[in-house]
Amino acid sequence: MPTIEIDGKKVTVPDGWNVIQAAEKLDIEVPHYCYHPGLSISGNCRMCLVEIEKMPKLQIACNTKVTEGMVVKTASPKAKAAQAAVLEFILVNHPIDCPICDQAGECKLQDYYMDYGKYHSQVPLEAKVEKKKVVDIGPQVVLDQERCILCARCTRFLDEVTKTGELGLFARGDHTYIDLFPGKKLENPYSANVVDVCPVGALTHKDFRFKARVWYLEKVESVCTKCANGCNIDIYHRRGQMFRFRPRSNPDVNQYWMCDEGRLWYKELQRESRILRPLARENDAFAPLSWDQAVGRVVDRISQTKEQHGAKAIAGIVGAKATNEEAFLFSRLLQEQVGTTNVAGFSWSPADAFHDDFLIKADKNPNTRGLKALGLLNGGPTADGVLNAAEKGEVKALLVFAADLSAAFARDKLDKALGNVEVIVCDTDYNGTAEYADVLLPIGTAAETDGTYTNHAGRVQRARQAFPPPGEVKTGWEVLATLRGRLGGTEPVSITEVFGELAQKVTPFAGLTYGKLGSQGMALAS
Ligand code: SF4
Ligand code: SF4
Ligand code: FES
Repeated sequence: MPTIEIDGKKVTVPDGWNVIQAAEKLDIEVPHYCYHPGLSISGNCRMCLVEIEKMPKLQIACNTKVTEGMVVKTASPKAKAAQAAVLEFILVNHPIDCPICDQAGECKLQDYYMDYGKYHSQVPLEAKVEKKKVVDIGPQVVLDQERCILCARCTRFLDEVTKTGELGLFARGDHTYIDLFPGKKLENPYSANVVDVCPVGALTHKDFRFKARVWYLEKVESVCTKCANGCNIDIYHRRGQMFRFRPRSNPDVNQYWMCDEGRLWYKELQRESRILRPLARENDAFAPLSWDQAVGRVVDRISQTKEQHGAKAIAGIVGAKATNEEAFLFSRLLQEQVGTTNVAGFSWSPADAFHDDFLIKADKNPNTRGLKALGLLNGGPTADGVLNAAEKGEVKALLVFAADLSAAFARDKLDKALGNVEVIVCDTDYNGTAEYADVLLPIGTAAETDGTYTNHAGRVQRARQAFPPPGEVKTGWEVLATLRGRLGGTEPVSITEVFGELAQKVTPFAGLTYGKLGSQGMALAS
């Protein structure tokens, strides 16, 4: 653990760290382009030149490991002059695209240009080397060769992370350009990560291009719920509309990356099929209800069924798309307030679901492991068993929470099982299961609710509410909390209280708190 001095401040860092990393610990930014913590060191941009005592020449901070007693100056006149000169050199052939470039607001060229004030080009516009613009290089990504500063981050990502090597640097000198290798397309399952690593606007994401200026967007920490890996992400949204997901670094889960399908998952969370208000079946159609009426109707149906057929005639199925908090509240509601043990977890994925040995999991649910930890998917009642019991007439009322049974069970089976059962569905969208509902309670998506998911490896991670649910929709935990209160239980007033109760009552979650989970999550106790 060497201790070094950077710009007059002392810092102790782990062995093997470089000067950029050590400076970051002191909140000192050494300007850089080619360095990326998830990739090998290339040292090609020379933007990170700093002065190091006892070294006669300036050194690149990215490729200089810290050693005990090292004294570094990142902002001395000599270092600043060198950084400014490198920036000017990089800008020599850069096009004057900034006003229409989609990287504006996130472009390191723009940022440093403003920092260093290199406003006046010494190169006439007509002398700039022209290269290809708006090149379609794959289903996700568009390339602008003129904007490229040849940092080789994208090629290193494709060589070192996906090992697919689609892009390369061709030609020499100021005619060097980035391009696809002949016969290749950039279409690996992680291709859009090159957009994130590109420090300028040379690689842009087709889906996000020209949709929104980034300074109008708010960013909220969350996790991807498209599969069981639980990649850490930031949700970018504006007034309840999501524009993109981007990976957030977590060395224990996804390092710096996410897959392309997960990146586009936000579209699925804001589909047209959302249920926007409570509904109840009236003859053959759904009629809107107020929340008070809807909750009243559910409570009445549960009470009547209990009275006429006993608590065992009531069953519940909760899907692995629910948060830990929702699944916990749901199962406790049925077990404690309703008095039935007939509660099943439901985790279904297509048999041929794509997966690999990197991030993408075959389990397309974010919380299968959480349901297992809650005892809902191991040895107890199953969704299949509940439907069989319903078919035999043993189940008279069924509560379904965040579980689309129609994905896993044939219509014929659902017709037989649910045809004569009072079905109460809590879900985000009007799906195949909602068709059988007598009462439909709309709940918020993963972007609209606070809660936690337990990923495939047993890591409990927080998803934060990016914005409130639309229309009259309520968050799932609030709906369950209200039902609990109306059925005679104690109504929790906050999600933190729900998680506290969960951690107290369910052994694998023992000792966990939102504070301890922080932004990177923690492993289950067992
Ligand atoms: S396209 Fe972007 S990431 Fe790739 S070399 Fe050029 S500037 Fe670097
Ligand atoms: S690997 Fe899974 S969790 Fe990660 S981004 Fe892709 S779909 Fe989402
Ligand atoms: S960041 Fe150090 S040389 Fe590019």
